[in-house]
Amino acid sequence: MKVLITGGAGFIGSNFVHTMLEKHASDQFVIVDKLTYAGNLRNLDGAVQNSRVQFVRMDIGDPAVVELARGCDAVVHFAAESHVDRSIEDASPFLRTNVEGTWRLVEACRSARVGRFIHVSTDEVYGSVAPDERSTELSPLAPTSPYAASKAASDIFVQSAVRTYGLPAIITRCTNNYGPFQFPEKFIPLMISQALAGQPLPIYGDGRNVRDWIHVSDHCMALDLILRKGKDGEIYNVGGGCELENIVIAKKILTTLGKSEDLLHFVSDRPAHDRRYALDCTKLKNDLDWTPASEFDAGLAGTVRWYQENKAWLDETRSGEYRKYFERHYTRREETLAMSGRIAVK
Ligand code: NAD
Ligand code: DAU
Repeated sequence: MKVLITGGAGFIGSNFVHTMLEKHASDQFVIVDKLTYAGNLRNLDGAVQNSRVQFVRMDIGDPAVVELARGCDAVVHFAAESHVDRSIEDASPFLRTNVEGTWRLVEACRSARVGRFIHVSTDEVYGSVAPDERSTELSPLAPTSPYAASKAASDIFVQSAVRTYGLPAIITRCTNNYGPFQFPEKFIPLMISQALAGQPLPIYGDGRNVRDWIHVSDHCMALDLILRKGKDGEIYNVGGGCELENIVIAKKILTTLGKSEDLLHFVSDRPAHDRRYALDCTKLKNDLDWTPASEFDAGLAGTVRWYQENKAWLDETRSGEYRKYFERHYTRREETLAMSGRIAVK
């Protein structure tokens, strides 16, 4: 099989590339990545040197993508702007990449007659879920943040291509991933890196928002299964089955690193912060016999260890543009939130 992977230099994409290279010894991979702030070629160390891998730095919206898609059996589409807080600050790149970029990629796949298109989406498209509920693949889409809205829009565009043009596409909606190579703007690597530096851990609101956590290796295995055995036109929820409040995770990280809970620092909440995400993954279990293998405490301990052992990677990602981002969102948080409010509220 020859697979085109978009966003392969990001967190989940790079984990997917490493997993696929190991698992499928005769498959070939074309990786397309624009290398935004979130993309890092270091994530692909050992993979880009492999003769079965071709890496191309390119925007998914570039018309030349069709040449790369030609001859590929499948596309696994990870490329996206992926951080909610950045989407609140400026939604434009989210519209460009997540919506328009996805549509351009769909057109390229149609033109190149690619036989399978996996659109990697998120549980955030369902919006916040009440304490006793779970979103199924049939639940209505109710995105809250500009990021979630852009992913929901891209899902609907992909579905329109399935219906209108017979695009052989599958949509996956996964819960919060954690594991190696995650950019430290996201909750778990941010908490780990702050704790390692002996700096405050910024907890939004009361810290009791709930996410369902899945180790990235489990997500990659589910995607591989869906790529090979999933049914065209279907949507599959992918969940870790591990719901936790943010504050519980932050405390676990401090305990793992032997740091004091005095480092916990409650800060102003994210605007429109979804209280809880929770998926019903019965369909994936029943149709493809998939369940996650990782246990959270062991997965978290391994993740903490990875960041400790990859200090150079962490120092590099936390320099440059990241410092400015951190300054805006944490050091000058009130000012930045007020600016978002001024734009959003009339
Ligand atoms: P990430 O931000 O770590 O990586 C995104 C990658 O896409 C980067 O390498 C970046 O350079 C690349 N990219 C961005 N814009 C591009 C463009 N226009 N053209 C080509 N490449 C571009 O994201 P992630 O956390 O690895 O998420 C990957 C996908 O999985 C996203 O679609 C996201 O919505 C989805 N997802 C993520 C999670 C999660 O918990 N991280 C959960 C569910 C779904
Ligand atoms: O649910 C899947 C989604 O998970 C993916 O689609 C997104 O790409 C990914 O970014 C993630 O979105 P979240 O908003 O859930 O993840 P994030 O890591 O930003 O935040 C997780 C929780 O932690 C959330 O309730 C907000 C909170 N948080 C986050 C940060 C960055 C804090 O309390 N403090 C922080 O500094």
